[in-house]
Amino acid sequence: MKQILITGVAGMIGSRMAEYILKQYPEFEVIGVDNLSGGYIENIPEKVRFHQLDVTTDNLDTLFENGQVEYVYHLAAYAAEGLSPFIRCFNYQNNLVATANVVNACIKYNVKRLVFTSSMAVYGIGTPPFNEIHQPNPVDPYGVAKYACEMDIQIAGDQHGLDWCIVRPHNVYGQHQNIWDKYRNVLGIWMYQKLNNEAFTVIGQGKQKRAFTYIEDCLEPLFKAATSEKASKQIINLGSSTETSVIEAAKLLQEIVGGSAIEHLEERHEVINAYSTHEKAKSILGYVDQTNLKDGLLIMWEWAKQQPKRERKEWDTYELDKGLYGFWKK
Ligand SMILES: NC(=O)c1ccc[n+]([C@@H]2O[C@H](COP(=O)([O-])OP(=O)(O)OC[C@H]3O[C@@H](n4cnc5c(N)ncnc54)[C@H](O)[C@@H]3O)[C@@H](O)[C@H]2O)c1
Repeated sequence: MKQILITGVAGMIGSRMAEYILKQYPEFEVIGVDNLSGGYIENIPEKVRFHQLDVTTDNLDTLFENGQVEYVYHLAAYAAEGLSPFIRCFNYQNNLVATANVVNACIKYNVKRLVFTSSMAVYGIGTPPFNEIHQPNPVDPYGVAKYACEMDIQIAGDQHGLDWCIVRPHNVYGQHQNIWDKYRNVLGIWMYQKLNNEAFTVIGQGKQKRAFTYIEDCLEPLFKAATSEKASKQIINLGSSTETSVIEAAKLLQEIVGGSAIEHLEERHEVINAYSTHEKAKSILGYVDQTNLKDGLLIMWEWAKQQPKRERKEWDTYELDKGLYGFWKK
C-alpha cells in the first residue's frame, strides 16, 4: 500500500492532516512519527502506524525500508518563535538539524516529494503583505532556522533531485492545538487562561496584526502541496487574508467565552505586522478562506472545554536569561 509519512503527527497540523488523509484518501497508509514533546498521543488517529522517535537524533531508516513511502510531510518542530532567542541551541537542533536528518532520508529512499512547513517568520522585518518573491529577512532564531531549512531543501532538490514543496503557513489554530504551552499559540493560551480563571495576557497594547487561519481550511491545500504537479518546487504562503489585531482577537474571544479580564504585558522583540498574500495558495493549492475567526474560535472553544487538565509546559532552565521578559522569568 502507498504510504505517506508525517513527522510531528501528534501535533495540531500533523494529527489533523493524518485524519484527513485517512478519510479522504484511503488509498494511502499513514505512518506517523513524533517524540511527544509538544503534541499528545490522544491526537493521533488509531489507524496511523505510529513510531515514537526523535527526528533530530534517531535513525529514520526503518520507516522507509519497505520502499512504500511516497510523500513526506515534515511538520515536527518546536515553533515557539518568541522564546527561540533564549533556547537558541535547542531551536537549531530541533528545527534545523532535524530537517537535515529528514532530508537525508528522503534522498536516500527516493521519496516522491517532501512537503516542509516553513513559516511566515522567514519574512521578518519585511513589509507586509509578504509575498513569496520578497527576500526573507528573519528577526529571530526560529525564523533563521526555518529559512535555513528552506535553503537546505532547495539544495537537495538541485543536487540530488529531491522534489519538494515549501509551505509557509501562519497563525493556524483549531482543535488539537497545544493550549498548555505558555510560550506559543496566543489563542490557545487565552483558552487555557479562561479555563483556569486567569486573565487573558496581551503583549504590549495588542496592536500586532496577524492573519489567523483555521486548520480545516488548510488540509486539502496541504494534501495538494504533496500531490499536485503544480506544487512541485514551489514556495507558497498558506492562510487567511484577513488580518486582525491581537487586541481585536482577544475581544472577540472574550465574547465567545463569556468574558475575561485582559492583562497587558511588557512588549517583546517581535514583528508588529505579519500577514501575507495568497495568490499562489489559491491558484496552486486551491486554498479558500472559508472559516472566519469568530466561527473558528467557536469550534475551537467547544473543543478546548472538553480537554483534560494537563500540566502546563514550562522550561526548567533557559539557555540564556539575559534579556528575558519578566513574564517568562522564574
Ligand atoms: N500552527 C501554526 O500557526 C504554524 C505556522 C507556521 C508554521 N508552522 C509549522 O507547522 C508545523 C506543525 O505545527 P503545529 O502547529 O502542528 O505544531 P505542534 O507543536 O502542534 O506540532 C509539532 C509536533 O512536532 C513534534 N516534535 C517536535 N520536535 C520533535 C522531534 N525532535 N522529533 C519528533 N517530533 C517532534 C511535537 O511533539 C508536536 O507533536 C511546525 O513545523 C511549525 O513550525 C505552524
